[in-house]
Amino acid sequence: MISAERIPNNVGLSSNKRLQRALEHWQPKYIQWWRDMGPQGFQDYHQVYVRTAVSVDPSGWAHFEYVKLPEYRWGIFLADPVHDRRIGFGDFMGTPVWQEVPGEFRNQLRRLVVTQGDTEPASVEQQRWLGQRCPSLYDLRNLFQVNVEEGRHLWAMVYLLHSYFGRDGRDEAEELLERQSGNRDKPRILDAFNEPIENWLDFFMFTMFTDRDGKSQLLSLSESSLDPLSRTTRFMLTEEAHHMFVGETGISRILERTCQLMKGAGYSGDVRKLGGIDLETLQKFINLWFSLSLDLHGNEVSTNAASYFANGLKGRAYEEKWDDHKVTEAMYELELLAEGKLERRHIPMRTAMNEVLRDWYVGDCQAGVTRWNRILERNGFSDRLRLPDRKFNRGIGMFSAVHFDPEGHQLSDADWDRRKHEWLPSVTDREYLMSIQAAPVYEPGKFANYIAPPQRGIKGQPVTFEYVRTEA
Ligand SMILES: [Fe+2]
Ligand SMILES: [Fe+2]
Repeated sequence: MISAERIPNNVGLSSNKRLQRALEHWQPKYIQWWRDMGPQGFQDYHQVYVRTAVSVDPSGWAHFEYVKLPEYRWGIFLADPVHDRRIGFGDFMGTPVWQEVPGEFRNQLRRLVVTQGDTEPASVEQQRWLGQRCPSLYDLRNLFQVNVEEGRHLWAMVYLLHSYFGRDGRDEAEELLERQSGNRDKPRILDAFNEPIENWLDFFMFTMFTDRDGKSQLLSLSESSLDPLSRTTRFMLTEEAHHMFVGETGISRILERTCQLMKGAGYSGDVRKLGGIDLETLQKFINLWFSLSLDLHGNEVSTNAASYFANGLKGRAYEEKWDDHKVTEAMYELELLAEGKLERRHIPMRTAMNEVLRDWYVGDCQAGVTRWNRILERNGFSDRLRLPDRKFNRGIGMFSAVHFDPEGHQLSDADWDRRKHEWLPSVTDREYLMSIQAAPVYEPGKFANYIAPPQRGIKGQPVTFEYVRTEA
């Protein structure tokens, strides 16, 4: 029997028998999925110091305690309603937001919820082996915090499917547990969520760049005319911020350590000889995860994106900051590939909404890379990390037909094949990373050689705190 204690929520679950029954039916399958596909080796004997959302006010969602992962209380939360909220953009601008799904947009909205929902369990699956190679208990705990919150995001989307999409929604909720990251027959919907995350550099870059695509998508869904979707995604954004913190500071700490090692070797040594991660490798992983995450924003020119905007299903990031919310006349200038040649063209902005969101995303990523470069600067290095051109290594959109180098110069297929490992991780790079991550670090306060300790611990605890403990 499900109680509010077991599933913390602010959606009145105990007074909604139909929903309660539907979730009672789904929950055991979720727990089985978590055991099969969640953190491997950390199900029964480990207690993790995690944050559990027990309400939406700031004191309630920052509740910390030790829990065994399968006993985590995955809750359902909607951000507080906005009084008299009106649709803020598109053709229905100014009319009241919807509390139910209009029949004519049912398929489109279901697709949006399912696509978002599919990414949540996918990332848990991708990351399930990382606990066996963790650089510290602090990092292990952060990994699990991200994992349980992605699990909660799945709950959030399943709540929407069960509450607003009837029988189809229930079927979709089942399928969210059936597709599997990287599975050849039943893969996850989006490519970046089928890529393996086998080492901690992948993990930090994923949380920096791919979770930031999550932020892009959640920002645009939080503008939605469908009020329950808007309120659900608004609350998810608070958790997403922590995931990006894990990624950005993880790389910052690796950079800090790399600088120390380079300085120790008289500014000239081969960092790999000292067991560190060299700047070239960091740059390759930026190139990989940034380009994969750019793809998640979709085609440059998209009639779907135009219709999502026109119908108020998906807005722009921070829609209120724009002057024109109807966007019926506005044009947008973008670089595109026409008959094999690059050129700049103006197209109706509504059809460029994916590109508009991608612009926001690139700017947000760039700010993070600039912060990383300050570490190099402070340590007296002239090297800099950078984002590759957005045409580089694309698998979706018009630039996927041709190859480009990280500066955006077009390349022949032969040149690309010959040179791609100058820019993307090679087998040797991956083997090296696995070699320095072969032994996990489970001793409180100790850190792997390639990463510096964080500046502070979690929730006022010292860095030496036992963030994950094993039951005797
Ligand atoms: Fe998420
Ligand atoms: Fe996330």
